[in-house]
Parts: sequence; C-alpha cells; structure tokens
Amino acid sequence: MAFLNNKKLLGEYAKPGLLWGVKPNRFVKEALKYVKSGDALDIGIGEGRNAIYLAKEGFKVEGVDISESALAKCMEIADKEGLTIDTVQSKIEDYKLQKNYDLIISVGTLHLVDKDKVLAVIDDVKKHTAIQGVNVLAVFTDEDLGKTEHPELYFFHPSQLKEIYKDWQILDFENYTIKESHGTPHVHHLCAIVAKRI
Ligand SMILES: C[S@@+](CC[C@H](N)C(=O)[O-])C[C@H]1O[C@@H](n2cnc3c(N)ncnc32)[C@H](O)[C@@H]1O
Repeated sequence: MAFLNNKKLLGEYAKPGLLWGVKPNRFVKEALKYVKSGDALDIGIGEGRNAIYLAKEGFKVEGVDISESALAKCMEIADKEGLTIDTVQSKIEDYKLQKNYDLIISVGTLHLVDKDKVLAVIDDVKKHTAIQGVNVLAVFTDEDLGKTEHPELYFFHPSQLKEIYKDWQILDFENYTIKESHGTPHVHHLCAIVAKRI
C-alpha cells in the first residue's frame, strides 16, 4: 500500500483517525509571508490540515475534494475549532471556479486528477488567482515509485512547475523527498512551488 491512488484513499479515509495529521504543509506556511489574508481555495483539501491552518490565520477558505469522508473529517475539525470552511464535493476538473482567489493551494493532489486535464486545471487556477495572489502547488515527480505502480496517473518532470509558472514571480521552488509511514514505510519524490501572480 505504498502509493495511494483514489481507490486506496477511499479505504483509508473510511478508517477512524486522520491519515494526513494536523500539521500544515511547510510551503503553505511559507506562503503567508507573501499573502496575509483574503480568499483561499484548497484543491484536494482532504481532512483539512492546510485549510484549517489558513482559516485560523484569518483566510476565508473554500475546499474541493472528491472524498465525502475526508470532507466530513475536515468539517468535524472545523466545527470543533469554531472555524468556517466552505467545502464542495467534486472532482476539481469538473468544478467551475467562480471568482479570483488571493491564495490557491494544492498539496499532493494533482497527480490524482484525470491525466489529460491536469495542465488545464493548473491553467484555470492561474487565471483565477488575483494579481499579487499566490499559488502553492506540491506535486509528485516522475522519480516517485508511484510512476511505475500507477502509469495511469500524472507525474511531473522535476522542473515542470518552474516552466508552467515562468510568467509569475517564483518565490520558492524545491524538489524534495518525504518519508511516509502509512503501510510499509516508503519515500516519495515531490516538487513544490510558491509563486506570485504579477
Ligand atoms: C494525498 S491527499 C492530500 C490531502 C491534503 N491536500 C493534504 O495535504 O493533507 C489527496 C487528496 O486529493 C483528493 N482528490 C483526488 N482526486 C481529486 C480530484 N480529481 N479532484 C479533487 N480532489 C481530488 C483526494 O480525495 C485526497 O483527499
């Protein structure tokens, strides 16, 4: 169970407890150096560790995810903490963004979007980011073990996000690995970008 595709995620989310914990992603935290408040969208919000953090920091947060049980867990935490997060159960590729956001984040999700729609989703995200607004994307790269296991999913070239955001100000960009302990302990290869629309 090293690599979680949507089918495996469904089973994991059905179990009690939090699969991804409560600690926000470090690039999401970093983005707050550059954008302090406003409307935020979390694509693939999951159980909400990043969205909850943003709501606590004063953002008006919306989140999209395909998983009903992940969204239920997210809402339960938000309720307990007295926070409001607007959630929509949808595939992001089917969801029509209706306004511009000051911050759009997507952590560990874009590889799960329909392979032929990933780049269109990013293009739409860029278009729906306010001028001076920020995007934070953390994606799996083609060095990841999941690429062999799941050729149907989308894995990014390590420098691809830099190319996609070449018309924005790139505030941070990093290829990195993370150790995961769900199932057999394993390492993932990811790339993250923090970029500002200019
Ligand atoms: C690896 S989890 C990451 C969750 C969260 N971003 C975090 O960092 O804790 C990926 C999430 O993307 C969701 N997801 C998968 N495919 C999706 C799609 N096409 N549209 C929206 N969400 C999707 C999954 O249900 C899952 O919650």
